[in-house]
Amino acid sequence: MIVSDCWQDYALLEAAEGEKVERWGKYVLRRPDPQAIWRMDKPLRSRVDGFYHRSNRGGGSWEFFTNMPERWTVSMDDLSFYVRPTGFKHTGLFPEQAANWRFIRSHTKKGDKVLNLFAYTGGATLAALAGGADVVHVDASKGMVAWAKENVALSGLADRYVRFIVDDCEKFVQRELRRGNRYDGIIMDPPSYGRGPGGEMWKLEDKIFDFIRLSAQLLTDKPSFFVLNSYTTGLAPTVLKNMISLAVVPRVGGQCMADEIGLPIGNSGLVLPCGATARWEP
Ligand SMILES: C[S@@+](CC[C@H](N)C(=O)[O-])C[C@H]1O[C@@H](n2cnc3c(N)ncnc32)[C@H](O)[C@@H]1O
Repeated sequence: MIVSDCWQDYALLEAAEGEKVERWGKYVLRRPDPQAIWRMDKPLRSRVDGFYHRSNRGGGSWEFFTNMPERWTVSMDDLSFYVRPTGFKHTGLFPEQAANWRFIRSHTKKGDKVLNLFAYTGGATLAALAGGADVVHVDASKGMVAWAKENVALSGLADRYVRFIVDDCEKFVQRELRRGNRYDGIIMDPPSYGRGPGGEMWKLEDKIFDFIRLSAQLLTDKPSFFVLNSYTTGLAPTVLKNMISLAVVPRVGGQCMADEIGLPIGNSGLVLPCGATARWEP
């Protein structure tokens, strides 16, 4: 298991009964987590700053018990992020990705060109920029791209080269191939379901293998890394490893590992699984 136990400013305090309690800086939030199906001896704490109530009509809403700001910041290493509870129980950050940000940063060489696909609020973009890369950040959502821009400025990286693209990832990769652009590092963290800005449908199981093969053609002859992350329940790490082994290794050699990725639960010794990750390196 790849465990993101490198946070000071964030902690997963408890997880059970389909919920998790997290400290984000000085604020404590409680929200649903479908993986946490077990029960602990004592009930989950309810004295929190914010509580996301699921509605049985799908979705849900936040209830705030203290006078907390609409958004605040948390840091990991020297990278900083804005956190804001959003409509869909999200907060603008996937803290379990911290281990991948460290991998990306340590495998980035100065001057590398890195492509971050389904890039959301830019955690991996910050890591690659801090590693000395020029980055192309692609996401279908204008709002997420704007949020990523703010995170880059907040982390003091606004002087670095980063291109922000609001587009469908498949369309963008096809265009980059036609243009003959090449990348030393590729990161993709697709949702299970998604839509491009033009309504392009994305269903992971149907699309991911061909998309990895397409994107692998954008790699330079001596690339630095390829990171694939998935939140899709039931998609085993070995599936990700097989796809990278079939689509990337024949092109550029190297090796690939894959494993679950997760967060330590307080000091219980337990880990909350948060998805799967595959990493290719030379
Ligand atoms: C799960 S998030 C990615 C999380 C991110 N990698 C992180 O850890 O910071 C998925 C992102 O994919 C974007 N997205 C969904 N469908 C897309 C598409 N067809 N093309 C481009 N982006 C898409 C969504 O806007 C969302 O920001």
